[in-house]
Amino acid sequence: MTAPGELTDEFGRIDIYLFDQLLREHVKPGMRVLDAGCGHGRNLVYLLQHGFDVSAVDRSPEAVAKTAALAARLAPELPPTQFRIETLESLSFPDASFDLVVCSAVLHFAEDPAHFNAMVTELWRVLAPAGLFFARLASSIGIETQVVSLGSGRYHLPDGSDRYLVDESQLLTLTERLGGALADPIKTTNVQGQRCMTTWVVKRPRG
Ligand SMILES: C[S@@+](CC[C@H](N)C(=O)[O-])C[C@H]1O[C@@H](n2cnc3c(N)ncnc32)[C@H](O)[C@@H]1O
Repeated sequence: MTAPGELTDEFGRIDIYLFDQLLREHVKPGMRVLDAGCGHGRNLVYLLQHGFDVSAVDRSPEAVAKTAALAARLAPELPPTQFRIETLESLSFPDASFDLVVCSAVLHFAEDPAHFNAMVTELWRVLAPAGLFFARLASSIGIETQVVSLGSGRYHLPDGSDRYLVDESQLLTLTERLGGALADPIKTTNVQGQRCMTTWVVKRPRG
């Protein structure tokens, strides 16, 4: 039996769809991982404790400090220089540095299509051949009639927030433009009366 709290100690408050990738062994120990827009590092608790070579970036100094402190506690062997204050659209890591790039709840903060594409292009640049790109982002899929366009790809959502939204055809076009292949069908969770969150997982070819 698992005692109360043990699962959280092991996995943190990991995104359920990232957890699904772990369960299906698409994410394996030893992988070099970038958490892009890491926040406080909730998606890294398991990875840090299980030998993943984790790096993380966020534009918020406070977020990076929190994630770096978590890493120092759970994986003290990782160099602190792998936790960097920087934007997704301007990463300092060399090309093909990572086997897994995680971008959870960040891309919908894009200002416009150019900003969105700049972030995705950078994330793809640092992904190695045969690597996996995992993104969770807000979308208009299934709530097209409930969102109000603000222009430049941004929308007012039923939950009161303003976000950059993608739709299915944009994600499919982008997957093709990157030269990737969907690792899973695009999956969308409709949070009743609030927003839709889409999981977009793309495999980079071996090269
Ligand atoms: C909603 S939080 C998500 C944090 C974490 N990924 C998670 O799933 O809990 C969004 C984070 O993205 C960061 N962020 C937003 N736009 C960014 C950008 N262009 N470059 C780097 N970080 C960004 C914010 O500072 C914030 O920490």
